Amino acid sequence: MNALYRLLFIVSFLSITDALWCPDGYTPLPGQNVDNVCVTSNARAMNFYDAEKGCASVGATLAQIWNLYDNSYLYALMKKDLNSTAPYIGVVNSGNGTWMYPGGRPLYYENWNPGYPKADDNCAIMDPETAKWNSTSCIDKQPSFCSFFGTG
Ligand SMILES: *[C@@H]1O[C@H](CO)[C@@H](O)[C@H](O)[C@H]1NC(C)=O
Ligand SMILES: *[C@@H]1O[C@H](CO)[C@@H](O)[C@H](O)[C@H]1NC(C)=O
Ligand SMILES: *[C@@H]1O[C@H](CO)[C@@H](O)[C@H](O)[C@H]1NC(C)=O
Repeated sequence: MNALYRLLFIVSFLSITDALWCPDGYTPLPGQNVDNVCVTSNARAMNFYDAEKGCASVGATLAQIWNLYDNSYLYALMKKDLNSTAPYIGVVNSGNGTWMYPGGRPLYYENWNPGYPKADDNCAIMDPETAKWNSTSCIDKQPSFCSFFGTG
């Protein structure tokens, strides 16, 4: 019983801490253990450029995925918030075939579907079937995930 109370205390402390890390409408990416990343989904279908502007308007970028845990979390969020419609993620072609996070950091983690990325594409979406990434033209209208580095 004592142990149960202790567990309940820890669980409620964690959820309070989470609420402090990210503003309303955002949740912390549980895969993060160095930088705290807050994410949100935008169900409105837009081309990449408008999706990017939507994220920038709240101080975020298209969502940066740093590891398998981030990817799994976003996959679950896609099912929950986006009715399993492929969203734009923060993975862009730098122009010479190098894929990067928004802002130009090299990718730390990659999860492409077989056959991707394709040379003619400059943007990326998460495939609802596999949770893997497909490169795509930036003009397709898709929902999106935004993220930013929170405090904590
Ligand atoms: C979710 O997607 C399915 C399959 O595409 C569709 O039949 C359903 O109407 C959608 N639901 C909502 C709430 O948009
Ligand atoms: C082109 O790719 C190389 C890595 O292969 C990278 O170091 C360089 O910054 C890239 N140039 C541009 C303009 O993105
Ligand atoms: C992603 O690519 C795979 C393999 O070509 C394809 O089966 C899937 O339908 C694509 N997903 C989207 C959302 O385009």
